[in-house]
Amino acid sequence: MNAIRPRRLRNDKNIRDLARETRISSKALILPLFIKEGNGIIEPIESLEGHNYYSPDTVQAGIEDILNANVKSVLLFGIPDKKDDEGSGAYSEDGVVQKAVRKIKERYPEITVITDVCMCEYTANGHCGIVKDGKVINDLTLPYIAKIALSHVEAGADIVAPSDMMDNRVAEIRKTLEGKGFHDTPIMSYSVKYASSFYGPFRDVAKSAPAFGDRKTYQMDYHNRREALKEAMLDIQEGADILMVKPAMAYLDIIRELKDKTQNPICAYSVSGEYAMIKSAAKLGLVNEYAVMCESAVSMFRAGADMLITYYAKELSKAIEKGD
Ligand code: PBG
Ligand code: ZN
Repeated sequence: MNAIRPRRLRNDKNIRDLARETRISSKALILPLFIKEGNGIIEPIESLEGHNYYSPDTVQAGIEDILNANVKSVLLFGIPDKKDDEGSGAYSEDGVVQKAVRKIKERYPEITVITDVCMCEYTANGHCGIVKDGKVINDLTLPYIAKIALSHVEAGADIVAPSDMMDNRVAEIRKTLEGKGFHDTPIMSYSVKYASSFYGPFRDVAKSAPAFGDRKTYQMDYHNRREALKEAMLDIQEGADILMVKPAMAYLDIIRELKDKTQNPICAYSVSGEYAMIKSAAKLGLVNEYAVMCESAVSMFRAGADMLITYYAKELSKAIEKGD
């Protein structure tokens, strides 16, 4: 006789659904959107199949499409038409992201607009900060990062998300926003961002690969786990509201670590390379795209993510509606 038989709770779909431990909601999904300088652009992105570039004047069409899929949050990235040493396009009032934010909020105030705050799409050298003598200089970069964040908030961004990985940037952004009376803008910090090869397709999309060297002096070494907690704790002290772990699929242990040891909401970012791997394996007929998409997204929530940035946000939202 066996009193304990776990299979009893797997008898049929209804019972399995009742006993399900991880339930996800489309309200927890965030879709990345790429805004290109120019006019009338709705152009397929080759390295991110299923995604389009939009320009500020067409972005409302993109939002319409997202709302139709019942997704209500976006993360904006800008692709400017010129770059310079100071990444000045990143904080210009007329920058591509600032224009897009205004367009979105004007027509869709109910959409939560999160902006990626960084310099790499705007600097000629492709680094996430100010470079001197071949090095990215932390403290020279901070005022720029704060200025970029402020310009996004002034344009109407609901949440700013610094991704540069400089030390003290959350404190600098918080100080700058407070100084201008923006007490209520959450900072979603890319707290734990690893120097990862999973960003490949993104760098092609955003034309943001570093012209020399790599990002290993600012992004984290993927051998490290305790350091993730240290980065998260620092961001909390500096005033971050949401902690992000990026990439997601190969870093589920880090998501769980932050979930167990901090009190902040955790956002996982399933990056471009993760999306590309699923897409291409499915294309080769090796995996079922829909099933693998669902399974990997659930793994991120099961690991402890409260919200998820994913290139599959629209498709996932539909899957959730179906109960998959
Ligand atoms: C910019 C930034 C990157 C990503 C998000 N913000 C690229 C990088 O750090 O090189 C990657 C996103 C993705 O791969 O989907 N700092
Ligand atoms: Zn960057």
